[in-house]
Amino acid sequence: MRVMFITEDGKENYVKYGRDEDGMNKVVKTVVSRYEREDMCDAPANDTTGWRDPGFIHDGVIKNLKSEKRYYYKVGSDAGGWSATHSFMSRAKNAEETNAFLFGDMGTATPYSTFLRTQDESVSTMKWVLRDIEALGDKPSFISHIGDISYARGYSWLWDTFFAQIEPVASKVPYHVCIGNHEYDWPLQPWKPDWAQSIYNKDGGGECGVPYSLKFNMPGNSSAPTETRAPATRNLFYSFDSGVVHFVYMSTETNFLPGGDQYNFIKHDLESVNRKKTPFVVVQGHRPMYTTSNEGRDAPLRSRMLEHYEPLFVKNKVTLAMWGHVHRYERFCPLKNFTCGKEDEPLPVHVVIGMAGQDWQPIWTPRPNHLTDPIYPQPERSLFRTGEFGYTRLFATMEKLTLTFVGNHDGEPHDMVEFLASGQISKRVEDASDKLEVEKGYFSWFMKGMSLLVTGALMGYAIGSITHARKVATSGASWAPVKTEDV
Ligand SMILES: [Fe+2]
Repeated sequence: MRVMFITEDGKENYVKYGRDEDGMNKVVKTVVSRYEREDMCDAPANDTTGWRDPGFIHDGVIKNLKSEKRYYYKVGSDAGGWSATHSFMSRAKNAEETNAFLFGDMGTATPYSTFLRTQDESVSTMKWVLRDIEALGDKPSFISHIGDISYARGYSWLWDTFFAQIEPVASKVPYHVCIGNHEYDWPLQPWKPDWAQSIYNKDGGGECGVPYSLKFNMPGNSSAPTETRAPATRNLFYSFDSGVVHFVYMSTETNFLPGGDQYNFIKHDLESVNRKKTPFVVVQGHRPMYTTSNEGRDAPLRSRMLEHYEPLFVKNKVTLAMWGHVHRYERFCPLKNFTCGKEDEPLPVHVVIGMAGQDWQPIWTPRPNHLTDPIYPQPERSLFRTGEFGYTRLFATMEKLTLTFVGNHDGEPHDMVEFLASGQISKRVEDASDKLEVEKGYFSWFMKGMSLLVTGALMGYAIGSITHARKVATSGASWAPVKTEDV
């Protein structure tokens, strides 16, 4: 398990851990890194409004953990003091089930007014995910946040706010990420083909992937040079098995075309999956291959993703392809070339899950002959789409994988799809009311911890309400206008 934290001075720090809260007698020393203002590539990250010293990043790895046991840990040093004690469940070796919480585009909320637009809904996402993690008790799980992470966009302190906000979750379970435009885009980014001139723009606020690359440390060793004095961009593409699911992460922000490292990695990775061990394969990336949102800017990127990756996904029977960037939840039929496959044909199901907090979003695609009329027909391939905020939870056994969309407005499931290990999609998903009733029963273990959680949830709600009320009171109704080019 990797434990990361920040200190002001970068002095020697440790992770103390053990199976017993009173007996944390094992110690790991951390590796320290940092970045400087000169590493930032553009404004506001490198000017006086955006830059604030990020401190020193500590990275400690706890090895040789026993399978599926609870470990307690704290960080710090005798000289500088110790943090509060946290705990996590270690990964289960040879696990026969998988639990994960997946979303994109969450951001953070500040408990004060700022000239920056932040993401109030991120508070609800973390509240409900924390409820679910606690209800899982001693079952391991993890988070998957697929790009557009803090929306700091060059304003350094928003990274701090973001990490403080996710700490109740990220101190308990692994927090996996992949890169989005708001961590990276800058005018001189090294890979910018002609067709991508208007796609890769200034969305990273001059961070050029540096905070993302140093504040997270994902599996694998993928990297791309920034071609400036800044450290290389990391955490681009990687994969791992978690229980019965093989997870693959990709970067839609750096070279993904055939001939490049990433394409070769993903092709080889998908061709090498042991489906007897992991009958399900989930691929995730930031910018979607499919969406019915009126998102025109990325069309040239989507067409290249479709050209080069859809054949790989189809041939290697990818179960789920999950994307962010569009701030909506949308689930498609099993797809190939914009067309639904025959019943029980094992084609990838694409799901857009960028609904965790960011709010600006072009609406659904209008009819070609009625561009200004507010009627947006849902194409046959789009089986469910909504503007509600929320997150998805994934539960899989050797026989079946279930993906559920949970709405933030009530913490309840509002869409679900099931996959059988044979590659078929369970027919039960055809009836919306049935499937959600099934889901409520099927996930009854989520309810086991509810009585204990009521107090915590109410506390969270109260804090959220106070925060919101303060914000409304101080900021009035002055939202910035929606900028559709700024997705
Ligand atoms: Fe994005």
